[in-house]
Amino acid sequence: MLTVAVLISGAGSNLRALLEAAAEPDYPARVVVVGADREADGLAHAEEFGIPSFTVPWREFTSREEWGDELGTQLDVWKPDLIVLSGLMRLLPPSLVARFTPRIINTHPAYLPEFPGAHGVRDALAAGVAQTGASVILVDDGIDSGPVLAQERVPVLDSDDEHTLHDRIKPVERRLLIDVVRRVATGELELAAARRPLTPS
Ligand code: GRF
Repeated sequence: MLTVAVLISGAGSNLRALLEAAAEPDYPARVVVVGADREADGLAHAEEFGIPSFTVPWREFTSREEWGDELGTQLDVWKPDLIVLSGLMRLLPPSLVARFTPRIINTHPAYLPEFPGAHGVRDALAAGVAQTGASVILVDDGIDSGPVLAQERVPVLDSDDEHTLHDRIKPVERRLLIDVVRRVATGELELAAARRPLTPS
């Protein structure tokens, strides 16, 4: 059974979908802990499913490295096989990525490498593209720059605003995430094989 830690910042709807999938007896992964960088609303999903959670508040640290060190310490308590960034709105410090790579994956509401960064949905709308998408990637030390593990196109409608488009992307993100975690758990997807070397520091 693959053990998973999920890190969030927000509502945690993708987290919830993974918790629901993992509650199915034939799903080969279990969420063992949920972490957040703030008092995220999504922590309530962990509580509802009886999953332990922790918060490493970004504001309480003076540097990204110190915050990342504490995050790493918390993750070490649970020794997860896989770390899922699911709406974590912080860049992990390179030291933390190096420590856990290639076991960190991220979901993103755009068809990477198109529209990386914190505003993937807004940027796709602003660019006036006819389609965007959802991606699940392996995390490296760049911004949404890691190898793509799964992705799917989502059309942009003339009537779309950021909210409606994101609402149509999220179910696709969830489906991709649940499938990637399943494939990692069964060994069908080998993260070490998908990895590219990290930039030397
Ligand atoms: C997802 O679209 C994620 O990719 C993006 O923020 C959203 C998180 O939503 N970075 P939720 O917290 O899972 O509801």
